[in-house]
Amino acid sequence: MTRHYFLILFILGCLLSCKNKPKTLPQKGVIAKQAMVVSARAEASKIGIEILRQGGNAFDAMIATELALAVAYPYAGNLGGGGFLVYRKANGETGVLDYREKAPLAATKDMYLDKDGNVIPEKSTLGATAIGVPGTVAGVFAVHEKFGSLPMETILKPVIDLAYKGVVVTLKQSKRIKKYQPFFRKVNKDSIPFDIHWKVNDTIKYPILAQTLKRILKNGRDEFYKGETAKTLVRFIKKNGGIITLDDLEKYEAKWRNCIRFTYYDLTIYSVPPPSSGGICLGQIMKMVEPFPLDEYGHNSLKYIQVITEAERRAFADRSFYLGDPDFVDIPEKTLIDQTYLRNRMANFSFEKATDSKAISHGNIEIIESDETTHYSIVDPFGNAIAATTTLNGAYGSKLYCPKLGFFLNNEMDDFSSKPGHPNMFGLIGAEANSIAPEKRMLSAMTPTIVEKNGKFYMSVGTPGGSTIITSVLQTILNVHEFGMGMQEAVNAPRFHHQWLPYYIRMEPYSFSKNIIEQLKERGYSIKEEHAPVIGRVDGILVLEDDTYEGGADYRGDDTAIGF
Ligand code: DON
Repeated sequence: MTRHYFLILFILGCLLSCKNKPKTLPQKGVIAKQAMVVSARAEASKIGIEILRQGGNAFDAMIATELALAVAYPYAGNLGGGGFLVYRKANGETGVLDYREKAPLAATKDMYLDKDGNVIPEKSTLGATAIGVPGTVAGVFAVHEKFGSLPMETILKPVIDLAYKGVVVTLKQSKRIKKYQPFFRKVNKDSIPFDIHWKVNDTIKYPILAQTLKRILKNGRDEFYKGETAKTLVRFIKKNGGIITLDDLEKYEAKWRNCIRFTYYDLTIYSVPPPSSGGICLGQIMKMVEPFPLDEYGHNSLKYIQVITEAERRAFADRSFYLGDPDFVDIPEKTLIDQTYLRNRMANFSFEKATDSKAISHGNIEIIESDETTHYSIVDPFGNAIAATTTLNGAYGSKLYCPKLGFFLNNEMDDFSSKPGHPNMFGLIGAEANSIAPEKRMLSAMTPTIVEKNGKFYMSVGTPGGSTIITSVLQTILNVHEFGMGMQEAVNAPRFHHQWLPYYIRMEPYSFSKNIIEQLKERGYSIKEEHAPVIGRVDGILVLEDDTYEGGADYRGDDTAIGF
C-alpha cells in the first residue's frame, strides 16, 4: 500500500516536472573537434559556423551571428539595440567591446517623472521615448576593424540572403508574436509585419531589413550613424515622439574595455566591466561562496541554495548603490571584488535564518579608487573564443518597429534608475550612480563570460534574462566546476535567483523538491515559483577532457549548437 502510494507520488512528480520541458532532455550537447557556434536560432548558428568553415575567425563569425540574429530572432537580435562582447584570443589576450546604447543628448535625470516626481508608467518601456542610442552597428564594425579577417561582403552575404529568403516560424516564436501583438498595435502607427497571425512553419521574409543591411554593407558604419539610414531613423523616432537626433547618432562610439578578471579555485574568469554590472556581481558572488564546500552540500541542496542566495542578496545590494557608467561615476571596482571586503560582507550570514534584505543595504566603502536578450558563444579552429550578449532590452524592445528600415528599436532607457528606489522592469533598484544623464550608458546585467582553467580556454557562457543573467551564468559555471556536469547538463539544470529586492527567491517551477522549499520557508525565505517560468536561456561551450568542445544550447528556447 505504502509502496503504491509513493509510486503514484513519484509518477505525479515526474509529470509535473516535465510540464515545461521536452520529454527527454539530452544530457550531452553537440561535440566538435575544431569549432562551435551556439546561439538562440539554428539559422544564426549555421551562418556563424559557415563563416568559420570558409576560414574566418571567431570575430568574423561573431559579426555574422550577431546580424543573423537581427534577422532570425527579432525578439532580441537587433540593429536597434546594443550589447557586450568578451573575447579571448588564442594567444591569451582578453578584452571587452562595449556596444551598449547610451542616453540621447536631450535626456534629463527626471525625464520619466511627472510634475509630482512620480514615474510615468510605460514612458521608459514603450514607444519612442524609451529608446537609447543604438550601438550594434558600431559594435560589429569595431570588431571587424580590429580583428576581422574576411571581407565584410563575405560575412554579410549569408545574412542578407537569409533576410530575403525568410525565416521559418517556430512554435515558441509564434506564441511570442501573438503575446506581444496588442503592444505592437498600441505603439505603432503603421501596420508592421508582426501584426499578422503567424503560424508554425510559416516563413517570414525581411526584404526591407535586407535592403538596410545592403546599404550598411555598401557605405559602412556611417550609413547607420550619418547616412540615409540615420536620417530615416531620426525622422521616424521624432514622428513618434522620441528625442534622438542625428547628433546623437553621429557621436555614438563603441568602446574597448578591460575585462573584470578574478579567480575561483583553479579557474580564471573574464567578464564584463561597467557599464554592465555582470562581471563585478559575478565576481562578488563567486568570491563570497568560495570558502563554502558547495560540492559537499550537493547540487540545489538546502545549504547550497542558502549560501548562493545570501551572496546574491549582498552583491545585488552593492550593485544598486555603486554601479553605473564608469565614464560618469567612480566605481570602487577593486574593493568590490576584494576577498577581505567580501568575507566581511558574508560575516553575518547564518544557516539558521535568512538575512533580512532591509538590514543589508550596500557595504560601506570609502571611494578612494579612481525574458529578451540573447547570448551566443563561438570558438574557432585557431583557438580564439568569444562570448557576446546582445539585446533590445524588453521583448521586441520598445515594440516600435521602423517599417522603412525593417527593425525594432530598443527600450534600454528603462535600465537607468528613473527615480532612486523605483524598480525598473526587472525589479532592479538603482541610485545616483545609475541616474540618467546625456550620453551616459545605462547599467546592464549582461554577463558574457570566458573561463580559463590552468591558463587555457575552458568555457564561454552567457544568457539573456535581465537581472537573472548574472545568477544563471553563476550557476552554470558552478554546475560544471562543483558538480562535474558537462555543458549541456549544466545548461539544463534547474535555476533559482535572488536579487536583494524584492525579498523572494525565484525558482523555476516544478524543478525543486517540496521538502527543500519547506525548509527554506522555515528559515524565513519567501519563494516564488510561478513568477519565473524560465530563468535564463544559457548557451555555452566547454572544453572536455579529450580537448573536444561540447556546445550546450538551452532547451528553454530554440537555441542550437553547431560545430565541426
Ligand atoms: O542590459 C540588461 O541588463 C538588460 N537590458 C537585459 C535585458 C534582458 O536580458 C531581457 N531578457 N530577458
